[in-house]
Amino acid sequence: MKKLLLLFLIASTFASAQNPLAIPPTLTGPNINLTLQDGTTQFFPPAFTNTMGANGSLLGPTLILQKDSFISITVDNQLTDTTTIHWHGMHVAPINDGGPHSVIAPGTTWNPQFTVMDKAGANWYHPHLHMQTDKHVSKGIAGMILVRDAEEASLNLPLTYGVDEFPLVLQTKGFDAAKQILVHTESDSTVMVNGTIDPVVDFPAQVVRLRVLNGSSQRLYEVGFSDNRTFSLIGTDGGLLTAPVNLTRYRMSPGQRADILVDLSSDLGQNIQLVSYASELPNAVYGATQPGMGAGATASLVGYTSNPLNGNDFQLLDINVVAQTANPILTIPSTLASYSPLLEGTENITRNLTFTSAGPMGDLTGPFLINNATFDMAVINYTIPLNNIEIWSFTNSTPIAHPFHIHDVQFFILDINGNPPPPELQGLNDVVLVPAGNGTVRFIAQFNDFADDSIPFMYHCHMLTHEDMGMMGQFIIATPTGIDNKNPNIGGLSIYPNPANELLNIETDFQIEKIILYDATGKVVLSSNQKVNTLNISALNKGLYLINIQGFETNVTQRFLKQ
Ligand code: C2O
Ligand code: CU
Ligand code: CU
Repeated sequence: MKKLLLLFLIASTFASAQNPLAIPPTLTGPNINLTLQDGTTQFFPPAFTNTMGANGSLLGPTLILQKDSFISITVDNQLTDTTTIHWHGMHVAPINDGGPHSVIAPGTTWNPQFTVMDKAGANWYHPHLHMQTDKHVSKGIAGMILVRDAEEASLNLPLTYGVDEFPLVLQTKGFDAAKQILVHTESDSTVMVNGTIDPVVDFPAQVVRLRVLNGSSQRLYEVGFSDNRTFSLIGTDGGLLTAPVNLTRYRMSPGQRADILVDLSSDLGQNIQLVSYASELPNAVYGATQPGMGAGATASLVGYTSNPLNGNDFQLLDINVVAQTANPILTIPSTLASYSPLLEGTENITRNLTFTSAGPMGDLTGPFLINNATFDMAVINYTIPLNNIEIWSFTNSTPIAHPFHIHDVQFFILDINGNPPPPELQGLNDVVLVPAGNGTVRFIAQFNDFADDSIPFMYHCHMLTHEDMGMMGQFIIATPTGIDNKNPNIGGLSIYPNPANELLNIETDFQIEKIILYDATGKVVLSSNQKVNTLNISALNKGLYLINIQGFETNVTQRFLKQ
């Protein structure tokens, strides 16, 4: 009975004129050209909506890249805005990563070149200009990246793009009365897949592979099928799992990818829907009935309760099952990739990150802070020695869950609220949802390959409004030479390099609460409550200094020479 009611709700609320699902064209290496452009899209004919895209007016081509191949991408910015393009999920050097420091001015090009080191998986590209990420993504710039490798090729998986393998970029957008796209909005009530509203698609009656991306600014999806059938999750952000995980639902946070196999071999002539079962989302995530925890949480999120998608099931994609292709794939492999997880105990350091709100209690609009700080382009929050294995431990004391994303690495989740992750979260990921109300998550990752003393990697909440408002930080991977002349660890503190001339790195066994710098005469030259692990000392005169680092119950002083 409940199921029938649900299907009725889906059919009656969301049946409307249908549009064939757009399938983005593909581009492949070694030379890729992406032209960022302003344009218009008719989401609601006859109205024209101003949009942005890569090689078109909305979204961008799917890049299909071979592992170990060398590629050169020319990004030509024909927008009137400055922007950047980031390769979300890919392990590339900071100079190629496209974070907020790698700006592309209008009328100029940017040419990252790198070897594809990632395992087979789905990544994506999107703009990342500080405070403008939501604007550029919401207006339309985003594209999928599919990495192929030999291991995947040996597995008898669907690999024919647009035939038995389909990219599905899930997004919701908000529109004003003139049908223009809203930025930093909670009125994101229009659902689209690959930029198509009310999409319908033909899938062949065989094993079909869905490469799903949550490309939304804020919204979570609880993905499943209208008949509650079981599907196989075969991969997550960082690529294939070791074995398929059979599920009826998969929860996707902004930025996350899912590699899904669904067996349609006995469904010829049938019609099924891909659905977001948003009524099943837990409270205190964006998209649920109750957006936050604590008194006043619902009322204070502007526009939230008026959004018909929140807490209600809705259709993502209408699927008609049609004839098989030649040589269809009809089975799902029982084993997939091989990799060895990083284990707790191998870490060099654990870093504690707290999420707090700068707004009033129960306020869901933020701004939100990481370790009580808002993003500052000039502050390096962490300096990580090359090859470090690190545990990052999060505590979210805000009333809403935040999808945390880190650049450069893929991590293994150790625990969520103290419990080991379920099988579908045991693979490699670069986004993890940190639950609200003092929820905790720990992950472990290794920072290999790319040291750079000047260009940082980012970490941030992937709710783009939160990111734009400063829920972001940055880290540098230190070159090995910087680590050599390190002060010995005394009282839980070591600093390096010594002598130093630009950046002084501070390593502690405790949480930093206060930093005081004294010159040789004992005069305080800097006193800071910032809990940073790197100080920019380039403005100091040459000479000997004392640095005093205070924790809750610790107070250590060391000497260093400014060159
Ligand atoms: Cu998907 Cu830092 O980004
Ligand atoms: Cu990223
Ligand atoms: Cu957030």
